[in-house]
Amino acid sequence: MNRRKFIGISGGALLAGGTTSYWLSDRNNLSREDIQAEDDHSSSLQADEREILFLASLAPSGHNTQPWFVRSLEPYHWIIGNDRSRWLPAVAPTQRETMLSIGAFLQNLEYAASSLGYICNWNLLATTSQAEQVMEVKLAKKALTPTFDSTKIVKRRTVRSHFSSESLRKEDVEHLLGLEEQWVYYLPSGSKESQFINDQTLEANRLQSSRNAAQQELASWTRFASRDAEKHRDGLTTASMEIEGVSGWVVRNFYGKSDVMKPGFRQKNIDNIQKEVAGSAGWIVITSRNDSVEELLETGKRMERVFLKVREKNIAIHPMTQILEETSTQKIVQQSVGIVEPIQFLLRTGYVNQYPPPVSLRRPVDWFMRK
Ligand SMILES: Cc1cc2nc3c(=O)[nH]c(=O)nc-3n(C[C@H](O)[C@H](O)[C@H](O)COP(=O)(O)O)c2cc1C
Repeated sequence: MNRRKFIGISGGALLAGGTTSYWLSDRNNLSREDIQAEDDHSSSLQADEREILFLASLAPSGHNTQPWFVRSLEPYHWIIGNDRSRWLPAVAPTQRETMLSIGAFLQNLEYAASSLGYICNWNLLATTSQAEQVMEVKLAKKALTPTFDSTKIVKRRTVRSHFSSESLRKEDVEHLLGLEEQWVYYLPSGSKESQFINDQTLEANRLQSSRNAAQQELASWTRFASRDAEKHRDGLTTASMEIEGVSGWVVRNFYGKSDVMKPGFRQKNIDNIQKEVAGSAGWIVITSRNDSVEELLETGKRMERVFLKVREKNIAIHPMTQILEETSTQKIVQQSVGIVEPIQFLLRTGYVNQYPPPVSLRRPVDWFMRK
């Protein structure tokens, strides 16, 4: 059970009832710390298997759709699958983002396995981004000293606000790029390229919020009420959208999916984006060799490797993909920033003073296991 209890009651009753109703209302943002791990027992998996799959599922995904499933063939031998009910057809109609997110899941899986002394033997099954079976993986226990500290996976999160606009220091950039230099770029704030991405991000968000299909899709993945968030354990919650305090309380108790379609909500989103892009240290751009399934998975892994290195440097990352999702902005971005290889991620970045704890929810392992 959750630590924080919430009883949803109607906004009208709340207003009429005054203070008592406030105490009965959906008072706090539901976040990851409110979910107890013991709620998530999986009887059919070995303890290490459950731990590795749980850590894998902490990967980022567009709208937090968590578009993966796992089929167990035998202990430590799985198929990682692509769950079509979790696609985002309005913003990512070719499932590019689905594959990138599954790539991040695979990277977490590999690191989590290595932290428990296993190595992964991979066999790529998918030939298109729509294929249901993506990757076969067999884990083998080796007497290796663990090479990865899995608390990095547990603590990783998307941060969207309070970025400093101080440019990233040279040594930190080198740390982040590491051996990925060929595929990862840092465009500091103040540069012509960074300013271009700021402007186009705003433009792409304007375009996207005027597209009803995209807005409808966003609405379907928002989990305003804690009850809804707890039921689905996916999507965008008030905590993950960083809607705090009184605003968070109002949204949790009085907003529904239909509000996402209203002009005021769309405008508020654009205003937020404008503030976000105005304050940051620029952009990390992640590219791939080409758009094949293999490369998209590898690029999702690459993004996750970078993402798992930022917290120790107090650097925040906020993926903003709208430029790549809207045709008119996608067409011009490559040439305008002078990058030849296909751009797969635009990550707004910057130092933060206080790194907030992770808040986005995940489905328990049992929920994404398939027979
Ligand atoms: C392919 C991909 C695209 C994303 N696009 C956006 C985006 O456009 N805007 C945004 O705020 N977050 C974006 N995100 C971040 C997700 O919303 C975030 O990973 C998810 O809500 C889970 O939160 P967490 O990263 O804190 O675990 C994206 C993530 C991925 C992997």
